[in-house]
Amino acid sequence: MKKPNMIEAKKRHTNNTKVLEYESVQNKFGKNKKYFVRTYGCQMNEHDSEKICGMLESVGYKRTDTVESADIVILNTCAIRENAHDKVFGFLGVLKHIKDTTNKDLLVGICGCMAQEEVVVNEILKKYSYVDFVCGTHNLDNLLNIILKEIETHKQQIEVLSYEGDIIENIPVIRESKYSAWVDIIYGCDKFCTYCIVPYTRGSQRSRTKESIIEEVKKLKSSGYKEVTLLGQNVNAYGKDIYDDYNLANLLSDVSDIGIERIRFVTSHPWDFTDEMVDVIASHDNIMPYIHLPLQSGSNKILKLMNRRYTKEEYLKLYNSIRTKVKNASITTDIIVGFPGESEEDFNDTLDLVNECKFDGAFTFAFSPRENTPAALMKETVSEEVKMDRLHRLNEVVNKYSNEANRKMKDTIVKCLVVSLSDKDKNKVCGYTENMKLVNIKGDKSLIGQIVDVKITDTKSFSLDGEYIKM
Ligand code: SAH
Ligand code: SF4
Ligand code: F3S
Repeated sequence: MKKPNMIEAKKRHTNNTKVLEYESVQNKFGKNKKYFVRTYGCQMNEHDSEKICGMLESVGYKRTDTVESADIVILNTCAIRENAHDKVFGFLGVLKHIKDTTNKDLLVGICGCMAQEEVVVNEILKKYSYVDFVCGTHNLDNLLNIILKEIETHKQQIEVLSYEGDIIENIPVIRESKYSAWVDIIYGCDKFCTYCIVPYTRGSQRSRTKESIIEEVKKLKSSGYKEVTLLGQNVNAYGKDIYDDYNLANLLSDVSDIGIERIRFVTSHPWDFTDEMVDVIASHDNIMPYIHLPLQSGSNKILKLMNRRYTKEEYLKLYNSIRTKVKNASITTDIIVGFPGESEEDFNDTLDLVNECKFDGAFTFAFSPRENTPAALMKETVSEEVKMDRLHRLNEVVNKYSNEANRKMKDTIVKCLVVSLSDKDKNKVCGYTENMKLVNIKGDKSLIGQIVDVKITDTKSFSLDGEYIKM
């Protein structure tokens, strides 16, 4: 058993990171069995789930969409806020019921960021003996061996490293989409924003080599993918740990040269965002004009307490430079309200900045204290009532600007990558504009997988309506 340890997790061991090839497992122990994977959290976790599916299928498991028919259920978890925890523990209750009643042999496993938390693993050891295995983020490539050991011994397996693992290339992957693919470029995070658990659950910043990334994108292009999204908790730090003079701007430019139709990247930290990067984005047609640029707070006092390492003035300068240089860019953000010490005045600074930037959209969150992070120990807490009130007031302003930004697109003709049938209306398809707006499109399902011209006929707060135009 290897349990996580938060103090160890804070240390940095990057000098030891090796790049290794995935070692496949020969025993086809999943033959005639079915798996169900549920994903919580960010895009990196979504992509990790594609790897979990890939590994399970490599030993014979087949996918099922219902837990009732599954032989193995894996929860790929997120630890970013308390409600992410609650959802996982809620779902574990459902799985326990299945194990107690209809399928006592069901295997239940936990992967992802919650697996890296000492408190969570201690709770599992104490109260959740029916969880069969826990596998951390740093040894995900070892998942199949952990499952196999539990099958052979019938003993709960807890295998979580508190130091970052090596970079493992070529883990099998079953991608959710045939048109748009996630590509990891950097793992971990060294920023240590005081509210955030990610630097502890994902370890230090470790970049993949440019050669492996470029090779992966080339393969995706030749197998028909139209879009790649380069992934990392802070993509703008790409390369810092392994190169002296190669960064995200260089990588974007090299990936652009491959000629894949659309390139996106998430998430950007304003601190590492250079003018060179803005220029590269502005000057390449296949780098999409969509930037997610988390602000977190508009108050310099709170930004400092958060350890974000920029001021609102610096944020605005970067924001305006992107707006000026990147044509038709849409810029979205993340904002936390109710951080310890946030006064009404600080909150008003955030509202002022939102009024100034007029973001295309914002993900807004009430501060949630995370075990062992510096902000969780800060004394001047904000009451739940005040947090909710601020969240509500902020959302009103944010929605006003999303609406406005969308309204400006009415009657324009835009390019959309059509990805699926529309959720709302099965006679429609849906797709994304270059600046990442979701459009429900009047058009036939044969459009799925293509980049087509669409006339925007109506706009709402979170989506647009449009019709396909044959050019
Ligand atoms: N790496 C990204 C953010 C990843 S987490 C970045 O630095 O921008 C996604 C968002 O969750 C963050 O931007 C932040 O707004 C929010 N978040 C993170 N920790 C939180 C916490 N403890 N409470 C509330 N929101 C939090
Ligand atoms: Fe968390 Fe900050 Fe790292 Fe983003 S940059 S993952 S918010 S520590
Ligand atoms: Fe959540 Fe981990 Fe992503 S905490 S947001 S799944 S990196």
